[in-house]
Amino acid sequence: MRGLVFTEFIALVEEKFGLRMADELLSQPGLTDGGAYTSVGNYSHREMLTLVVGLAERTGLPVPDLCKVFGEWLFPKLATNFDFAVKPYTNAFDFLRSLDGVIHVEVRKLYPEAQLPHVPVTRVDEHELVMEYRSERPFADVAEGLLRGCLAWFGERASLHREALQPDGAHAARFTITRSGVAP
Ligand code: HEM
Repeated sequence: MRGLVFTEFIALVEEKFGLRMADELLSQPGLTDGGAYTSVGNYSHREMLTLVVGLAERTGLPVPDLCKVFGEWLFPKLATNFDFAVKPYTNAFDFLRSLDGVIHVEVRKLYPEAQLPHVPVTRVDEHELVMEYRSERPFADVAEGLLRGCLAWFGERASLHREALQPDGAHAARFTITRSGVAP
C-alpha cells in the first residue's frame, strides 16, 4: 500500500487525536522502520490494519467508523496529489464512471506495485449510480468514506446506501448513490 495512504492516516490521527496518540500508534511493534513511513514508500496493508485497530483500542471508537472517517479525509488528498484524476470531471457520477477503467489504471501505470480494488460501476443513469467494491483487502469502509469524500469534493448532495456482498462485507460491497441535488 502506498506510503501516501500511511502518511495521510498519521496526519489525520495527529489532527483529530493529537501528536501523542500518533506517537503511541507508531510505537507499536511490527511496523516497518519503526513506523517512519514516507509518502513514496510502499508498505503492507496489514500495517494499516494494525494502526486502525490500535487507534480503535485507544479511543474506544469502532474500527468501521474510523475507516470511514479516514476515507473521507483521504479523498481530497488523493485528488490533490493526482490532479489528473479529477480535473477532467465536473460531477461525481462522470468521475466515478472512470475510476475503475481510467483512474486506478493510470495509478497502476505510475506505481506498478499499487494494490487497487475493483470498483466497477454496474448501473448508472442521471439520478442513480451503482458501484461495486471488490478487493483482496478488507477496506469497504474506506471505500464508503472515499465515496462520501468524492460527493463532497464535487459539491453533490446525494444519499449513499450500502449492501454487503458475499462472502464478506468488508471485501465486497455494493454502493447505490442517489442524487438529491447540487449543494449550494
Ligand atoms: C482522486 C481519486 C482517486 C485516486 C487518485 C485513487 C488512487 C488510489 C491509490 C494511489 C491507492 C493506493 C494503492 C496502494 O496503496 O497500493 C488507492 C487505493 C484504494 N482506492 Fe482509490 N483512488 C481514488 C478514488 C477512489 C474512490 C472514490 C474510491 C471509492 C470506491 C477508491 C477506492 C479505493 C480503496 C478502497 C483503496 C484501498 C485498497 C483496496 O481496498 O484494495 N478510490 N486508490
